[in-house]
This record gives sequence, structure tokens and C-alpha cells, in this order.
Amino acid sequence: MTFHLAHLSDAHIGPLPVATYRELFSKRITGFTNWNRHRSRIHNMPMLGSIVADLKAHHPDHIAMTGDILNLGLAAEFVTARRWLDSVGTPDEVSFTPGNHDAYTPACTRLLRHTFAPFTSDQPVLEAHFPYMRRRGPVALIGLASGVPTAPFLATGTVGQRQAREFEALLLAAREAGLVRVVLIHHPPWRRGAKPGRHLTDAGRIEAIIARSGAELVLHGHNHRQQVHFMAGPRGPVPCIGVASASAIPGSASHRAAWHMFAIDGTGSDARITAHARGLMAHGAGIGDLGPIDLDPSRGETGVLQADGMI
Ligand SMILES: [Fe+2]
Ligand SMILES: [Fe+2]
Repeated sequence: MTFHLAHLSDAHIGPLPVATYRELFSKRITGFTNWNRHRSRIHNMPMLGSIVADLKAHHPDHIAMTGDILNLGLAAEFVTARRWLDSVGTPDEVSFTPGNHDAYTPACTRLLRHTFAPFTSDQPVLEAHFPYMRRRGPVALIGLASGVPTAPFLATGTVGQRQAREFEALLLAAREAGLVRVVLIHHPPWRRGAKPGRHLTDAGRIEAIIARSGAELVLHGHNHRQQVHFMAGPRGPVPCIGVASASAIPGSASHRAAWHMFAIDGTGSDARITAHARGLMAHGAGIGDLGPIDLDPSRGETGVLQADGMI
């Protein structure tokens, strides 16, 4: 039986709550200015609602949300973000990995681990632990946290040594169990996957792990565009698929709300995976079919970063 996995990312929910001067006296002041000047015009909440409604109308078996639900990591944003994620699906139906905007300042770390804990574990945990592995049908969803607090003007991510070590152990355990390994991570986990200052600082470490231990599919967000890349794996290229922001209205061709559906047949590393994009059509035609995503490595990569790349 085919397993259907939906993927969406980068909801960037607005409007921003009222923030105190104290809350803004930090890295947040640059993000606050950026939101007011630019992002508030791109991330549209009715659009996000339409994307989620379209996704749910297709009845996926599970939903992956790869982060950046928030913008500045304000305490009130966590409340809104949790309410929104609850509206996407139950913790049993949705798996979450945090992005740089969910881990905006050091104070966010505990809040995000508490707020999103049920979407990272099948046990009743109070605090999320990364990496995690959740089993659904033939699939092992392996979630990594790459969002870390950074200095102003940076949107880098880091997985870290401890998490990387546990990640590889989970990959091997899932392979041993004959599961289809789907890795969820906010930042593109290979070198040059995002522009300098917005990249995963230890992408080389993840590349080495995938090259040794493999995975069947990697899903990420962060670049706000559809991207197809292939990482080297022990049995051949591993498709890494980036999705556009789920709330982006047209500003440039690549900033257009979308979500992806993956159809997974078979088990383990022999599984057959196909992918399809749905999202905002051109010329005001609403949400519709954006076509298949080619996972054949011989066709090359698409969605290579342009100069207008955003976070
Ligand atoms: Fe984002
Ligand atoms: Fe991001």
C-alpha cells in the first residue's frame, strides 16, 4: 500500500504580536525591521490557510513541517504557532523540526522544546529531544534540530556533534529494521545548500553521515523555494527536496506558496518514491497542481539558489 507523506515549511505566521522595547533590545530589532519592511508583505495568512486546506483535502498519512513557524521567537508567537500546528493535525499526524526563526534567541530554546514536544515523540514527553525517530507504516521519520540562536544578520544552522552521532545511530537502526528513512531538517544539509550566512555550519558532517549510512529521502525548508539536490549515499544519490514557504504570495517567481506530497511504495532502501508539488498557480488561478518533482538524479538538479535567495 502506498504511504503518502505531505511536506510544508516556513509558515512565518503574522502579524507580529505587540513587543516590548525590552524584547526588541536584541537581535530582534533587525528582524522586527525586516518583518515590517519586507516579510509582512510576503507571508500571507489567508494563503497559508488555503495551502493547509488543500494539503488536508488530499488526506496524507502523515505531515512533515520543517520549521520557521515563528518570526522573532517572541513568547506570544509560540502560543500562536502551537495553535496553528494543532490546526494542521494532531501530534500523531504531524512531525516538526525547528528552524532558525523558531530558535531566534537563546531564550527560545526551552520554549520551543516545550511547545512542540508532542510533535517530536510518540511518548508523552514534556521536552523535545533531537534527533528523534517516529515510525509510521513503512517509514522512519528522523527529525533533526538545525535552528540555533545566532548573531544579528545571520540565519545559519548547526546540528552539532552529539546530535550528529545520535542521527547516524538512528539511520542505522532504521535501515536494520527495513524502514524507508526520511530525514527532516530545516536547513539544506549539504555544503553550498544555502548562501553564506544562512547555511548549515556543519553540513560537511551531515554529508559524511549520509555518504556512509544513507537515507532514502531528505526534506528541508529555509530557502523558500522548490529545490532538488542529490547527496551522495552508499547505494547511490539520495534526493534532498526543498519546499517553498507555505505562506508566500508572489513577489518573485520563486516566492510562491506550495506544499509537496511524496508517495512511498515498498520498504527499506528498495522503496520507490515519487513526488508532486501543489501550490499557488500563476495569474490568480488559486491553489492547484504545480506538477511532478523529478527525483531521477540523471535529470540534474533544480532550484539552484539565485541572487534573491531569502530565509
Ligand atoms: Fe524561513
Ligand atoms: Fe529559515
